[in-house]
Amino acid sequence: MLKNLRYERAGLGSDVVGSEVGVDQAACEALLPRLNAGRRALGERYKNGELGFIGSPDHDVKELQQWAQTKREQGFKDQVVIGIGGSNLGTRAILDAARQEDCSGLRPHCAENIDPTTIKRLLDGLTLETTLFLVITKSGTTLETMGLFWIAYDRVVKAVGEENASRHFVAITDPTAGSLRPLVESMGLDSFDVPPNVGGRFSVFTNVGLVPLALAGYPLEELLEGARTVRESALHDDTLAKNVAMQLAADQYLLCSAGISQVVMMSYSDQMLSMVDWFRQLWAESLGKAVNRQGAEVNVGQTPIKAWGVVDQHSQVQLYMEGPRDKHVLFVEVNEFEVDLRIPEYPKLPESIQHLSGRTLNEVLQAELAGTRAALRQAGRPTSRLIFERLEPGALGGFVFCWEMVTALMGELLDIDAFDQPGVELGKKVAHGLLGRPGFEKYAAIANFSESK
Ligand code: PA5
Repeated sequence: MLKNLRYERAGLGSDVVGSEVGVDQAACEALLPRLNAGRRALGERYKNGELGFIGSPDHDVKELQQWAQTKREQGFKDQVVIGIGGSNLGTRAILDAARQEDCSGLRPHCAENIDPTTIKRLLDGLTLETTLFLVITKSGTTLETMGLFWIAYDRVVKAVGEENASRHFVAITDPTAGSLRPLVESMGLDSFDVPPNVGGRFSVFTNVGLVPLALAGYPLEELLEGARTVRESALHDDTLAKNVAMQLAADQYLLCSAGISQVVMMSYSDQMLSMVDWFRQLWAESLGKAVNRQGAEVNVGQTPIKAWGVVDQHSQVQLYMEGPRDKHVLFVEVNEFEVDLRIPEYPKLPESIQHLSGRTLNEVLQAELAGTRAALRQAGRPTSRLIFERLEPGALGGFVFCWEMVTALMGELLDIDAFDQPGVELGKKVAHGLLGRPGFEKYAAIANFSESK
């Protein structure tokens, strides 16, 4: 895939997991004509301007980095990303995976959930005089984001005065539509566009992700270069051996077809846990669909589950080993951590744990990981591995773009629209109705009716 990120799929073969769910290379090869047709169709939709996410790694970041430098020079020390779902998860994923050396700029914080306790604690803990708030919403109508914007604005007005408050806010939104865009002019906010042809969960490499990452001082060129390297292969290589996105899509599709209805992404790196959250949204919102592109009812999708190695070895793994045969465990592994710690050699250690003496935590973690992998294979459960040498920006960019392409290819194989999310729209409209938005009364009535049943 990339020189420091590779995919290993030996744990999927029928020799390991049996012929019912096993994914053999011959079955993947048989799918190749459909994968290549899907790959070409996505390329065409990119060329005709429909799928902007494919072009997003070409973003020229020089001006953005200069702007970010200006903000640092103006004395801003902290940034709060106000956004939810696709307007936040990708940014958080990259920032949490970042090494200390990759973040020399504004300290990042996220305001996404509207749990009042969390928000109050966050705001109370900030020095508002040196905090920049990024309000990120493509639609400009997301209740959570717009509500948090006004709470933060009110606090900033109280801290620095109304005449200075606007310089603490940056809007990242649709170039013309929505209710945030008009405020850019009336309030005099700095602003950046979200391209209309890129959906939230595919927007990491647009201003949605790049503005906060630039402020954090993250090496954007390396991130985007990694994404471009994967794109080149995903769009142009026509064999499974070369095109990892097609191989991943083939594996996931064949597993789904064999009744593996859940994919557990189990990260053995704390830094990658937010990336698993990003993946969960991408996979669930893109592929969980009621109808296909002809409008026939299909009710497809695969449930993505987040698991935390090694902690969930002491919690979830019992189920993965012995529960229903409906899961594929996809390990996210990191060979070399940013730091390591050694367990001291201590003569008084009991004999039963003497072998820990002098070991590093990474050695122990790798042994636990190898143990879980081997046990699942022994139990005939499908497993595969995505292995980072290190969490470098290029590898992270490649990982993100690869999964975006895999998801789009899955949409082609399943013949569904992977880029809409009709299932989440109704709930949002009902919430607007319940809060009294004019014209939304009929949606409020839905809630009142279903609650009374
Ligand atoms: O992927 C998506 O489209 C969604 O998760 C959106 O990003 C999310 O609902 C937030 O929408 P908005 O950016 O309009 O506030």
